[in-house]
Amino acid sequence: MRIDILTLFPDMFQGPFSESIIKRAVEQGHVEIVLHDIRDYSTDKHRRVDDYPFGGGAGMVMQIEPIDRVISKLKGEREYDEVIYMSPDGKRLDQKIVNQLSLKGNLIILCGHYKGVDQRVRDNFITMEISIGDYVLTGGELAAAVVVDSVVRLIPGVISDETSALSDSFQDNLLAPPVYTRPAEYKGWKVPDILLSGHEAKIERWREEQALERTKRLRPDLLGEDQA
Ligand code: ADE
Repeated sequence: MRIDILTLFPDMFQGPFSESIIKRAVEQGHVEIVLHDIRDYSTDKHRRVDDYPFGGGAGMVMQIEPIDRVISKLKGEREYDEVIYMSPDGKRLDQKIVNQLSLKGNLIILCGHYKGVDQRVRDNFITMEISIGDYVLTGGELAAAVVVDSVVRLIPGVISDETSALSDSFQDNLLAPPVYTRPAEYKGWKVPDILLSGHEAKIERWREEQALERTKRLRPDLLGEDQA
């Protein structure tokens, strides 16, 4: 998989992509993440990429030309499955969307800033708009990092224990069951006996029951039930 990220602040990705599982996924060649500074595609001598909104109003708007130049260049080099714009107006990210994106080959992710991008970018280049929740961030970078993190961990081979991704919260519209590790007792707080029993089938059933109970209690909306 290849993910091209178009941003005004490429350094914002240094943190999230230079540690842990995503870093290893890149090193092992499971994913190529390429950052593009949109300013490099400005034709302005001051590298400007934004301008005042037509019709007036507060805030600046990201101009179409630099974005067109970088997207057109990339599309001339390879095919892309989706051109995603990170925006609070977009479809709310959930595990279903993450699963679908993890099966794609090449993605472009555009991060907005200021008042957003010229509408003509959205109308002519964007195939999918994604929001990570009903709140407004200062820009799309943190949201893009969330998308990349959640998608990359699903690429086969990225998480060494493949079943661990399958038993994630949300995979069956259920939250994950509780987990424990050693010591079996700490300050009098005990691990449930069943997990120490060695009885695989019973443990599996217990986990399913726990997942269902947790989901009913904490996220009944996932089961199509009203939230308490
Ligand atoms: N950009 C600003 N806020 C955002 C959000 N909630 N989701 C995705 N992109 C954003």
